[in-house]
Amino acid sequence: MAESLQIPGMELTRGERYALLLPQLQALVAGETDRTANLANLMAALKEAMGFFWVGMYIVRAEELVLGPFQGPVACTRIAYGRGVCGSAWKEARVLIVPDVDAFPGHIACSSASRSEIVLPVFANDRVVAVLDVDSDRLNDFSDEDAIGLGEVVKLISGMFF
Ligand code: SME
Repeated sequence: MAESLQIPGMELTRGERYALLLPQLQALVAGETDRTANLANLMAALKEAMGFFWVGMYIVRAEELVLGPFQGPVACTRIAYGRGVCGSAWKEARVLIVPDVDAFPGHIACSSASRSEIVLPVFANDRVVAVLDVDSDRLNDFSDEDAIGLGEVVKLISGMFF
C-alpha cells in the first residue's frame, strides 16, 4: 500500500488530476482485501486529492441504500429505492449529474451547503450494489470529465463487490 498521495498541482484540469490519481488509488487498495478499509481509504484519497466538499459510498442493503465510508459533513444514513439523487441513480442504473440540487425533485438535503452533485452506480454481476456520491458547495461543479474520471474509480470499487 502507498504511504501517501502525490497530489497534482491545482493548475491541472480535473481530467488530468483523475488520470494522475487513478494509479495511486489502485496502489492504495492493492494487497488489502477488506472492503470497508479500502473504501474508507479511497474516499479519503478522493477528498484530499480532488478537494470535494463531500464524497462517500451508499451500499445497497435490501430495499435501501445505507451510508458507507465517506469524507465530509455528517450525512443521512438510509435512502429508499428511487428517492433523492442517490436512490434515482440506483433505480435508473445510470450516472446522474445534478447541476443545481434545488432544481432536482426529491433531492435529499443532507447539508444545506450542498449545491450540485454527481452520483455513479457501482455494478457487480449486472446489478447495482452501491453508489458513489460526490457533493459540491458550488453550483454546476460536475461535468462529463467527472463522470469519466470517477467512472474509473467506480470500476475499481466494483471489483470489491464480487
Ligand atoms: N443528496 C443526496 C443524499 C446524500 S447526501 O448528499 C450525502 C440525494 O439526494 O440522494
